[in-house]
Amino acid sequence: MNICVVGAGYVGLVTGTCFAEKGNRVWCVDIDARRVEMLKKGKAPIYEQGLEELMAKNIASGNLNFSTSINDGLSGSDVCFIAVGTPPCENGEADMAQVLSVADGIGGCMTGPCFIVVKSTVPVGTSRLLCDRIEVRLKERGASHPVEILSNPEFLKEGMAVEDCLRPDRVVVGAASEQARAMMKKLYAPFVDEERIIFMDPASAEITKYAANAMLASRISFMNEIARLCDAVGADVESVRGGIASDRRIGKHFLAAGCGYGGSCFPKDVMSLCRIGEAYGLDMTLASAIEKVNRGQKRQLPLMIRKRFGEAMDGVRIAILGLAFKPGTDDMREAPSITLACDLVDHGALIIAFDPIAQSNAKSVMPAETAYGASAMEILAGADAAVLVAEWPEFGDIDWNAAGRVMRRKILFDGRNFYAPEKLESLGFEYYCIGRNRTPLA
Ligand SMILES: NC(=O)c1ccc[n+]([C@@H]2O[C@H](COP(=O)([O-])OP(=O)(O)OC[C@H]3O[C@@H](n4cnc5c(N)ncnc54)[C@H](O)[C@@H]3O)[C@@H](O)[C@H]2O)c1
Repeated sequence: MNICVVGAGYVGLVTGTCFAEKGNRVWCVDIDARRVEMLKKGKAPIYEQGLEELMAKNIASGNLNFSTSINDGLSGSDVCFIAVGTPPCENGEADMAQVLSVADGIGGCMTGPCFIVVKSTVPVGTSRLLCDRIEVRLKERGASHPVEILSNPEFLKEGMAVEDCLRPDRVVVGAASEQARAMMKKLYAPFVDEERIIFMDPASAEITKYAANAMLASRISFMNEIARLCDAVGADVESVRGGIASDRRIGKHFLAAGCGYGGSCFPKDVMSLCRIGEAYGLDMTLASAIEKVNRGQKRQLPLMIRKRFGEAMDGVRIAILGLAFKPGTDDMREAPSITLACDLVDHGALIIAFDPIAQSNAKSVMPAETAYGASAMEILAGADAAVLVAEWPEFGDIDWNAAGRVMRRKILFDGRNFYAPEKLESLGFEYYCIGRNRTPLA
């Protein structure tokens, strides 16, 4: 098939590359000229394992092409995917400006029938809205082509995006016509078995995406609330997790207590879900609570550190291990490390940080006072305390015995319950974590 993907970010670039890998001819279109220049040279502007290798192969075969012009991408395409950003507005609604501007672009240059598929996470009713918008643009040009908008929400996980895209758990498609469904079946046949392509109407597909993210976020917030209770009563949230995860009705995923979720999806999608419900006169009690618990949880680590060192932290040197919102990605959007660093800097602490991949992205969003090191050991030297925020696997290899010798004080705050408490304590560390009742803080 000939495919146009508009928006070459985490979703668009990975999706476009994977479509090319399965033998389609793909144009990835992005408004950002610098990004497109990089892409043409085979350089990925984002970090995803395996992505550059796949890009190189498909650029060489001619299956993967890049442009800043929607005209280049759309001409001759059977299907056009919209994968641009939908960041949160100040009030938590999804900002639809990028999506609407793509619709205008499509209406402005469409020369024949083409299916338009929305991959961006968008509020209910967007399919209808885009159809109207494109038809208006077509009319202005005196053109008239059949327009069908499909919803095909994306469920990939950053850090595993290529793998998720090549082998998705399921593919959700909101499509009205049989012709559109047949096209999507054909397109996704090399990726999943047919029974895992779930067809529904576009509005249901749009809600499915928000419901999936809110469900996952709710599990995290729930366990964070249980972790606070564990701390209060002297129980261990990791034991509780094991106890409930073994129930097949509950399962083990997304039950880890920690310093709060971040990223480009959960925070904004939960907020957007609240605003969507409210627009229909509903009180989104549960969705609002998920978000409220998470906001509080992001403040837990700085609060614990201030309890330990006092409110005036002048001269206290804190080493932050891991800045990305989770391991495996360079994405800093809504990362708990930002909340932590801002709070500590406000209280006079000196922050030195290290992240294996996200460090250069971090520099634009972390407080200006943050210093950076080239390795975990480098930032630990001379630190009064270490704080683990993103549990990159290599942090599992830190020699804490050696670290303890170069740190000013042997104190570790583990924001992800990543380490075995007994091991750190046996090395003489004061070890603080989430909901495990280790070293009580007054
Ligand atoms: N990142 C994820 O893990 C993820 C997962 C599932 C769904 N989503 C959803 O997918 C959508 C895209 O997310 P993302 O993380 O890939 O965003 P992103 O910010 O990484 O990428 C968006 C890209 O769109 C480009 N763009 C903006 N306006 C444009 C225009 N008018 N024409 C062409 N290009 C334009 C930007 O330059 C950017 O490169 C969002 O709605 C998001 O909620 C994201």
